[in-house]
Amino acid sequence: MTSELFVYVVLPGQTDFVTAGRFVLSTDGLGNPRGRFVYGRRYLSRTDAVALDPLELPLEERTFETLRMNGLFGALRDAGPDYWGRRIIERHAGVAALGELDYLLQSPDDRAGALGFGLNVEPPAPARRFNRTIELVRLQELADALLREETDPGHPERIQALDLLLLGTSMGGARPKAVVEDGDALWVAKFNRPDDRWNQARVEHAMLCLGRECGLDVAQSRIVQVGARDALLVQRFDREHGEAGYRRARMLSALTLLRAGDSHRDRERWSYLLLVEELRRLCANAPGDARELFRRMVFNALISNTDDHPRNHAVIARRDAWQLSPAYDLTPIPQVSLERRDLAMSIGDLGRRASARNLLSQCARFLLTAEEAQRIVDDMERVVRSRWYEVARREGVSERDCAAIAPAFVYDGFGLDL
Ligand SMILES: Nc1ncnc2c1ncn2[C@@H]1O[C@H](COP(=O)(O)OP(=O)(O)OP(=O)(O)O)[C@@H](O)[C@H]1O
Ligand SMILES: [Mg+2]
Repeated sequence: MTSELFVYVVLPGQTDFVTAGRFVLSTDGLGNPRGRFVYGRRYLSRTDAVALDPLELPLEERTFETLRMNGLFGALRDAGPDYWGRRIIERHAGVAALGELDYLLQSPDDRAGALGFGLNVEPPAPARRFNRTIELVRLQELADALLREETDPGHPERIQALDLLLLGTSMGGARPKAVVEDGDALWVAKFNRPDDRWNQARVEHAMLCLGRECGLDVAQSRIVQVGARDALLVQRFDREHGEAGYRRARMLSALTLLRAGDSHRDRERWSYLLLVEELRRLCANAPGDARELFRRMVFNALISNTDDHPRNHAVIARRDAWQLSPAYDLTPIPQVSLERRDLAMSIGDLGRRASARNLLSQCARFLLTAEEAQRIVDDMERVVRSRWYEVARREGVSERDCAAIAPAFVYDGFGLDL
């Protein structure tokens, strides 16, 4: 298992990697994984050097150490694949599970953010070739084949190793996806799964549009036909096309800002209230980002996006300054309960409960007065209530799918004064 690697970064405005430092994974006296990172001297002497994570890995000449999260610093973990990307890498490597560093090393260079990894002190040239939208049909077939294997592991599909490389993505998330280039931009292509209960691509696209109508800053998206099915293309906000290639924004997930992991043991740290404190420490426009986070939390409660876990929020830095990223992965989850629904992260005095009263209870932490917060909740409730159906139909969500997702919007418990 690999225990050491070099970390590269694309500096603001640049398109090629430079070496930022070295990461070593070992064990402490008790056998627990321990990660160590040092910035290279040459890197520290650059006038344009940037910190990989200003809070946990500031630009300083010392050895940083962590015993948390299997010894992996959050900034590095965020650049690695998640469920879907790991599945492809494991399938390609022909093994069931790899070491954490192997996932980083074996990932293709389309990962979120500006980091790269390698065994050589000199970084490789960034990949210049990306899948084109025309390849989506083949990519969707491959994604389907991998999903069939998941449901029927007894019948492994004949998937060529080369094809897997084509599909390979180190973007996070659990749903089947690929990265494609179209025009002068890179897009995350999110495929519908054959076992989805509704047209997920169109519904997610409609939610991004509805979020925009509610005044949120959301990622650009559109629907494309792939064979007989729809797929969602979400434009990558961490890549910007330039003459020499793609410029990259650094990116940190909220999971990293919260210094938390995915497991339920870290659940008490999954909190909008803790997250807004971190935004206030890190972001250049703290009041603006705090207000935007408040609006996203309200929106998630209004559309029952109860899967709003901390990997579904991120901050980015295109240059020096950090800011909340545009919103992404907004999906309604209609549930049986009409009285009580919980978001994935804590909201206020009543914990995770998705109700107006709870949303308003800690508004001062989002730098809002009680009147301002009340107005935001009222305005957004009105827009979601009056517009969700029209927006969904306009974006091609079928009548049947609208009926299926209808219970997600402004559910009864939202206004209950419990
Ligand atoms: N437009 C974008 N630009 C840059 N990075 C993005 C964008 N959209 C998503 N990402 C990154 O890719 C990851 C996966 O995307 P997304 O959350 O949409 O996928 P998912 O499979 O639906 O996730 P989940 O597992 O939460 O259901 C995100 O956590 C984020 O790091
Ligand atoms: Mg997600």
